[in-house]
Amino acid sequence: MRILIIGSGGREHALAWKLKQRPDVEELYVAPGNGGTAAIAVNVPIRDDDIPGLLAFAREKRIDLVVPGPELPLTLGVVDAMTEAGIPCFGPSAACARLEGSKAFAKEVMRAAGVPTAAAGVFTDRASAEAFASEHGAPLVVKADGLAAGKGVIVAMTDAEVRQALDLMFEGNAFGKAGTTVVIEEFLRGEEVSLLSFCDGKTALPLPSAQDHKAVFDGDKGPNTGGMGAYSPAPVVPDSRLEALADVVTRPILAEMARRGTPFKGILYAGLMMTEDGPKVLEYNVRFGDPECQPLLMRLKNDLADIMLACIEGRLDDISLNIETRSALGVVLTARGYPGSYPKGMPISGIADAEALDGVQVFQAGTKAEAGRILANGGRVLCVTALGDDLREAQARAYAGMSRLSMENSQIRRDIGLKGLKRLGLA
Ligand code: AMP
Ligand code: GLY
Repeated sequence: MRILIIGSGGREHALAWKLKQRPDVEELYVAPGNGGTAAIAVNVPIRDDDIPGLLAFAREKRIDLVVPGPELPLTLGVVDAMTEAGIPCFGPSAACARLEGSKAFAKEVMRAAGVPTAAAGVFTDRASAEAFASEHGAPLVVKADGLAAGKGVIVAMTDAEVRQALDLMFEGNAFGKAGTTVVIEEFLRGEEVSLLSFCDGKTALPLPSAQDHKAVFDGDKGPNTGGMGAYSPAPVVPDSRLEALADVVTRPILAEMARRGTPFKGILYAGLMMTEDGPKVLEYNVRFGDPECQPLLMRLKNDLADIMLACIEGRLDDISLNIETRSALGVVLTARGYPGSYPKGMPISGIADAEALDGVQVFQAGTKAEAGRILANGGRVLCVTALGDDLREAQARAYAGMSRLSMENSQIRRDIGLKGLKRLGLA
């Protein structure tokens, strides 16, 4: 089997690591890849948004399975382009990727499907947005409609912050084109959790729960990032609740998208707030989360390509997921300053020492391999991920692995998994 993975993050290194375990994989390419994928696959210098370039490469190499990691190629229609060319490609069509690409569209589909979510208004002009905001009052959450690399959401705790957020969205144009349509929604309280499901258009198979840590500093302080660490399972959603939760937040979306003639295939990722009134959807992503993918794939025992092909071919009801009962936890190492500006080029040492520890894998993200060394080349540099008999052991192992690494100008969170340990009464 010949496989092409699209993307260059920790998620894509984990996808490559997992897919490579399949015995009949002859060729594994990652476009454009990173320092970690260079060691286990062939990196190809094609950008993740170059759909014609990716298609030409997949044709030339007679690729049997294309696996896009990030949202951008999905919203640009990479699945449509590959499918039209007869190349199996795991993920949603551009029509379905709008669930992530437009928050206004996602709200409209949720409403039609009867999925619980925060009450919201959608606005294209400042005056009506302001009228809605003053009617409801802070706290409110102000969201740019389009893809904004995780930066288009402002949680405004005071009326002054709501006004500032609207200034930024409508006049400052901080989020580019994404800022012209704005969603304002009710502020929800509770614990956040992610529910990712494999989907084949009709059937959804939920993976175990995972919890991301979006804020840059310990205690969920500081600006939001792409994610500073994740673990699975998250005790806030034990395995016994997965099916019932998928019935509320995932399967109704599948039914609604099928009814519209655009069945959803790929990973549907529901970002949830577990409120006193039950689960409410904060957002949908249409792909694996990064870093949730890293601990989730360490727990998945099935062959991943088998599941992906079953999704593409509409045979997911033949598959049952075989999940490692142990916990997995990943801690992200970033360059100091991220998610603001940060330095690059620092050498990283100790990766092999970390991986020598039982159950530890280092998934690289913003790195490049140069003259036999691994150099930092992005904000999120790598994710040390570990399996352990329980959450506490997975956490201890991941931090033990992290302590064997060294890189100048680095930063990490020290409290990945803490909310889970508290819920278990262990912290
Ligand atoms: P999103 O990209 O929509 O998931 O938003 C990014 C982050 O903003 C989420 O992970 C939450 O921490 C926070 N957030 C988004 N919507 C809400 C809401 N309605 N109430 C409280 N926090 C929210
Ligand atoms: N970790 C959240 C995301 O991938 O969007």
